[in-house]
Amino acid sequence: MTTGGTPRFTGLPTGDDLKEAARELLTRWRGARTSHMLADGVVRFIASGEGPTPPFPGYEHQPGIGGPLVGDWRMKPKFASVGRKTERRWVARVEPGPGADFYATGEVAGPLRRNGKRTKLYNFDAYGYTDETPALYQSHPWVLGLRPDGSAFGVLFETTWRAELDLRGDKIVCRSEGPIGGVTVIEKKHPQEVVERLSRMTGLMPMPPLWALGFQQSRYSYEPDGRVREIAEQFRRREIPCDVIWMDIDYMDGYRCFTFDSEKFPDPAALNKHLQDLGYRTVWMIDPGIKAEEGYFVYDQGREGGHFLKNPDGSEATGEVWPGKCVFPDYTREATRRWWAGLYERFMATGIDGVWNDMNEPSVFDAGPERTLPDDTPHDADEELGGEGPHTRYHNIYGMQMVRATREGISEARPDRRPFVLTRANFIGGQRYAATWTGDNLSEWRHLRWSIPMALNLGLSAQPFAGPDIGGFGGDADGELFSRWMGIGALLPFCRAHSSKDTGNHEPWSFDEMCEKVCRAALQRRMRLMPYLYTLFYEASRFGRPVVRPLFFADPHDLSLRDADDAFLLGASLLVQADVWEDDFAPSRLPEGIWRRFEPLGETDPEISQRLPTIRVRGGAILPLSPVVQHTGELPGSTLTLIACPDENGRAEGELFEDAGDGPADCSGPYRLSKLSAEKSGDAWRVKIEHTEGDYTPPERRVEAFVLVDDDHLERAELTPE
Ligand code: NOJ
Repeated sequence: MTTGGTPRFTGLPTGDDLKEAARELLTRWRGARTSHMLADGVVRFIASGEGPTPPFPGYEHQPGIGGPLVGDWRMKPKFASVGRKTERRWVARVEPGPGADFYATGEVAGPLRRNGKRTKLYNFDAYGYTDETPALYQSHPWVLGLRPDGSAFGVLFETTWRAELDLRGDKIVCRSEGPIGGVTVIEKKHPQEVVERLSRMTGLMPMPPLWALGFQQSRYSYEPDGRVREIAEQFRRREIPCDVIWMDIDYMDGYRCFTFDSEKFPDPAALNKHLQDLGYRTVWMIDPGIKAEEGYFVYDQGREGGHFLKNPDGSEATGEVWPGKCVFPDYTREATRRWWAGLYERFMATGIDGVWNDMNEPSVFDAGPERTLPDDTPHDADEELGGEGPHTRYHNIYGMQMVRATREGISEARPDRRPFVLTRANFIGGQRYAATWTGDNLSEWRHLRWSIPMALNLGLSAQPFAGPDIGGFGGDADGELFSRWMGIGALLPFCRAHSSKDTGNHEPWSFDEMCEKVCRAALQRRMRLMPYLYTLFYEASRFGRPVVRPLFFADPHDLSLRDADDAFLLGASLLVQADVWEDDFAPSRLPEGIWRRFEPLGETDPEISQRLPTIRVRGGAILPLSPVVQHTGELPGSTLTLIACPDENGRAEGELFEDAGDGPADCSGPYRLSKLSAEKSGDAWRVKIEHTEGDYTPPERRVEAFVLVDDDHLERAELTPE
């Protein structure tokens, strides 16, 4: 525990929790002060008796005053404040009715369905976490639910303070160490509509550059630069598709951010150029912990500008991180974010393509069990975020505000390119600024299993761009685990292999020949699916749809799909059945309807394909595919293949989004949307592409079409010219 005076819960049941439960039982619960109908099926309830409603940084824009509540609104939250002084908790409770299934709650390990779980919301450096670790790196005070009748709802609690979500009964309870300003309840027919609505309120993920959808290879750390070149050359020599190589902290001079080690990385611009000539992009790490050392320009500038957090007595707040004693920028201040953004100009000028912000809970080594700054560290936050307040209030948005500044900085440094930022810590709404990965998992089968529900629950919490460290970060994988993980990871939104120091090599060729073959096939599959995947990212960035979706999205009424977490939908048209067990394998139930088996690579060696997840196409869908290339930069102008899987009436439909794959930082470049359709006329299948929106003209290319008439069985179709 840190040394602040406020008592706190650890997220696990304790004697104190029983006391708290007893207190809650005796509490007088209040209804909302006011309720605002924000849109059809969306109501914001404001807690009573707490003065002005505090702003909630999870929203992209603070909701205005909507209309009065109309209709039969069954989910009215109850509010209470329990206890006194430092023991005080603000509690909000929502009762969705009996038998509801709960999901989302942000970044959580363990099963997809969250009933019975309690999640602590206090961003935590959770190396080697398990499904019992109370808090992980991100906080999302949000629950998605499905009732037995298939109706869907979502509940968003407006608190950034240390809090917890308690789903141990039929009720949804949020307990917070500071006021819960309001609760927004969304009621919709389908869970996808609930997530879309949440995404629009908390901000849509901006369209990433196409290269960020490619496979990415990382390690803590590839060093010196010669080793980085060697890794890059191996991928090309072995013809294993790869788009990005990552630089972890050892490129820095003594872990000082925005510097380069003059021996190990003497010429970062030349390294970037070399990798880019081979078709790679590079992502480099920047942490928030700034070495407290006079003469180091970031420290000197930050101190002069008053950008670092202070203790309540006005002295510098310090803590140990990689470089030793560090100070921490107060990203809740606009002036500090401006300064931080400005630091990227020189850094990006070396040809860096993307930035990885790590350790931004912030993680502090020599702190108590919560491994972060003391509770009472004051923040001089902007009014927009809530004004001055203690770390307990701003801890959960520290990482989010850091990546907000980073994104601004790299957009300004490279206005002609779409920014790519990866973050470890974040808060609901943080998808506006950065993609995410699920932190320091381990090379264990259970971590492989958790990869799927973790990406799904993040998607249900409005963060569509997420994935695990493929192969596991800590510990040593073997060829079987690594290759099976690659098979699954290649079908998740963010696709990167990463491993820690003191572990064996974790590249596709580091194990056995079969592992290398399976990884190659897994990544070739991803490349083949790229036009479809890119279209899904467009859907996410325009409508807020998750890229990967639970099976129950295909049929919210089918109760048998509610806890499937070894299978998932990749968009609406593909279903992935993964074997996540070391020994036995019982594939999960399929939703009703046609789901035809389809191997994107065509015929493959059964030894390889049995290690890869099964891919199925929904009857009624059309998939746009590309050929297998070594990196996404080779895609423009390549053949477009359309695969139609007819429904019971012999028809299929799909969509294709295309643009230059990169462009202005504000994503305002031209695009082209096309409708794909297929039907049988006489004995022949006809597939059509119709341009429906946008004025981007793709480079000239060949188009071919096939129909998936049965499992693994394609027939050529005729194509109506564009
Ligand atoms: C912790 C991160 O979670 C991990 O991915 C990274 O490799 C290390 N920090 C070192 O930077």
